[in-house]
Amino acid sequence: MLDLVITGVTTPHHSDPINVSVRDGSIVAIGRGPAGPARETIDGRGCCLLPPFVDAHFHLDSVLTRIPNASGTLREGIDNWAAYKKASLSAEDVYARAKAYCEQAFAMGIQAIRSHVDVCDPALRGAEGLLELRRELDGKMDIQLVAFPQDGYYGGPDVNAQLHRALDMGVDVVGGIPHNEPTYGHGTESLRELLELAADRGLLADIHCDETDDPHSRHVETLAAQTVRLGLQGRVSASHITSTAVMDPYYLSRRLIPLMAAAQLSVIVNPLINVHLGGHFSHPMHRAMAPIRDFMDAGLTIACGQDCIEDPWYPLGYAEMFEVLKMAAHTGHMMGLDALRAMLDTITVNPARIMGLTDYGLETGRRAHLVLLDAPTWFDAMRTNARRVAVIRGGEVYRPGRSAE
Ligand code: FE2
Repeated sequence: MLDLVITGVTTPHHSDPINVSVRDGSIVAIGRGPAGPARETIDGRGCCLLPPFVDAHFHLDSVLTRIPNASGTLREGIDNWAAYKKASLSAEDVYARAKAYCEQAFAMGIQAIRSHVDVCDPALRGAEGLLELRRELDGKMDIQLVAFPQDGYYGGPDVNAQLHRALDMGVDVVGGIPHNEPTYGHGTESLRELLELAADRGLLADIHCDETDDPHSRHVETLAAQTVRLGLQGRVSASHITSTAVMDPYYLSRRLIPLMAAAQLSVIVNPLINVHLGGHFSHPMHRAMAPIRDFMDAGLTIACGQDCIEDPWYPLGYAEMFEVLKMAAHTGHMMGLDALRAMLDTITVNPARIMGLTDYGLETGRRAHLVLLDAPTWFDAMRTNARRVAVIRGGEVYRPGRSAE
């Protein structure tokens, strides 16, 4: 007896309807053959089934703060967040907002989030609140935390120690922000130290890198070189890298991209935020989006992250990863059918690979973490931001708006 059968669905790999069988929380069969008797059957005709959405770049500590940002600049966002940290932040506050968002995200089919957590607070209230939430959601949602020195690794005398302490507490990944260090040289040095730290501790690294309109902000070059020097190929992510949108084309294509490919850097772009915060200081105003097609052609793993929702950097958003993907597809001229299919991977399998989620995917033998969408194909689901009919976690069926069945 099976536990669950989902009948008559399409998937990104099956344009004709198939059945998916689940036993003991794992997928045991995918195919056209008749499924055996099951404790529960979902009639999936007219629906498509995907592996869950994965958001590889988010900030759970600032989510839902609703702090305004009148200028719409990165600088005002950082300054307003600093003021909030000083006046209002508590571990309980972070926990409550992040929990509310995770519930919203789960209902939208997101089952894994990599969240940066600001470690520039001496009390590490963000890390405390998010570690508590990660414990509570263990098994229900994959939460990975990045020790992120928002105000700079050299932004205060104790940030170094605080970042180490956050890792000691259980934060998973080493973060950084070289373009926000006091000088360019400090940015370079921060990358050496932070990647050595990742190598010493056997951790992944994810760096907010070159999130600026300055075409001469080339920290990603150092990030790639340090990755190769330390043997961290395939373990380091470059987040944002919006400066690549305005770099000299010769440098980008002939020097930087080959370096990034040699380092097997993954790239996490954050289209909604990048388009909104970037380009202010150029004329004509550019799109502030990394050239994802060029990166894909070079074999780099690309993911699209939501980054922020209702916080000092971005006032909108509702955990709709299709919305995130589509901004990148528009600005990156990724509208061919093959290109859109590749974009689907930027919110599913690619970020899962970046996060190292080993038991992920719509494949026999994997855990039955799935999302069922009210659209006949993956393309229509993307086109219409299709309603989530069911979110399935380890074979347990949740219907958004209802409790577990
Ligand atoms: Fe970010």
